[in-house]
Amino acid sequence: MPDSSEHSLDIQFSVPFMHRLRVTDDVSRDDFPQLLSVIKAGDTERAKVLLIGEQSVAAAVQRIAKQLTLADVTQLVHEPLLVKGGEEIKNSSNTVDQILEQINQSNLDRRSYIVAIGGGAMLDTVGYAAAVAHRGIRLIRLPTTTLAQGDSGVGVKNAINYFEKKNWIGTFAVPWAVINDSALLETLPDRDFSCGFSEAVKVSLLKNESEFRWLCDNAEAIRERNPVASKHAIHRSCLLHLKHITDGGDPFEMLEARPLDFGHWSAHRLEPLTQYRLRHGEAVAIGVAIDTIYSSLKFGFPEQDMLAVCHCLSRLGIRLWHEEIAPIERLMQGLEEFRQHLGGRLTITLLKAVGEPLNVHEIDHVVMQEAIEKLRRIQPKLAYPPNQSATDAANGTAHQNANNLR
Ligand SMILES: NC(=O)c1ccc[n+]([C@@H]2O[C@H](COP(=O)([O-])OP(=O)(O)OC[C@H]3O[C@@H](n4cnc5c(N)ncnc54)[C@H](O)[C@@H]3O)[C@@H](O)[C@H]2O)c1
Ligand SMILES: [Zn+2]
Repeated sequence: MPDSSEHSLDIQFSVPFMHRLRVTDDVSRDDFPQLLSVIKAGDTERAKVLLIGEQSVAAAVQRIAKQLTLADVTQLVHEPLLVKGGEEIKNSSNTVDQILEQINQSNLDRRSYIVAIGGGAMLDTVGYAAAVAHRGIRLIRLPTTTLAQGDSGVGVKNAINYFEKKNWIGTFAVPWAVINDSALLETLPDRDFSCGFSEAVKVSLLKNESEFRWLCDNAEAIRERNPVASKHAIHRSCLLHLKHITDGGDPFEMLEARPLDFGHWSAHRLEPLTQYRLRHGEAVAIGVAIDTIYSSLKFGFPEQDMLAVCHCLSRLGIRLWHEEIAPIERLMQGLEEFRQHLGGRLTITLLKAVGEPLNVHEIDHVVMQEAIEKLRRIQPKLAYPPNQSATDAANGTAHQNANNLR
């Protein structure tokens, strides 16, 4: 009889990952060597590269394609695939299928590269296809929105929406490299430029008080697209997110708490409630404001700092209200949806003070109602933008009746 201990083994092991981040001014022109520097050719052959870009940045995609064709270490396997951007791309598997088809036809393998250039929604879609083909092809992300450069680009998740639920199919996969390039943001509309910084405010509130104060002082410059201020804000946000992933002990979200989802339980509910007319970044700004006010009512987060958070988001150019917030009970279903997606106990990260998060397992519905009512009263008094229905801009996308999650 074998020793019974041989039949039940619990062995802990770990696998090292490498995260590569590069920051460039114009990767499609002078800084192209930075892209080449993260691509490793084989001993005897060039590295196979499939380039996929979203249509909004087609000109830069074509310039990069040309440079990849001319380089001696890379072989561009096909002309660049140009796909649509925005949430709509995540709402069916069409684009994933198209990419998988191309990967197969081009005989890509695990040592090949997919270079993806686009916003968070497009990168999520391409990332999913890259992660499942041959169980993982090297993915180089070139994010083209402030949100994706400051947050999701260095994230280790990808997903598409399924069963009319957001991010229902997806994987955890560490990108091979991420290149945050300033020039790729030039064509981004002001609305998308501004709202991406809500994630920067979020992560600074959780992790770094001086960064939060800096954002408060520079919010207007960022909204006006001052290149120095906006680049600094994106980079600091990106580094704080990156540090959380590489150093926070839970990159693949095995634990109950997900601090980077501060402000997200209501944001994830609001996005589908507005048929995605509200951008993720706009919904997160409202969610951060709500949870900060709740933190001040319930956990003594200083009132003055609570107002600073609302003013900062507002001065960045984000409206902190949307008609679909009411009825409040409907919004609060987001708490249960949030719990269901994570499994286990409800765990929500709130704030005791700037830079001092705390996790709670219960939300006081009466106080949360009060917090939302308070935001309704504060919001018209905020400096910017003028009280308007800006969030319902006609270029909203997608129609998921999703139940949660970024
Ligand atoms: N995987 C993660 O860790 C993670 C984290 C946060 C958010 N997300 C996901 O990211 C998505 C939101 O991403 P986003 O905020 O980048 O928005 P987005 O990708 O939806 O892009 C917003 C709009 O800007 C356009 N666009 C993008 N770049 C442009 C450019 N340079 N010039 C002109 N137009 C441009 C897009 O086509 C789209 O219309 C959501 O689906 C969210 O769930 C994922
Ligand atoms: Zn988010």
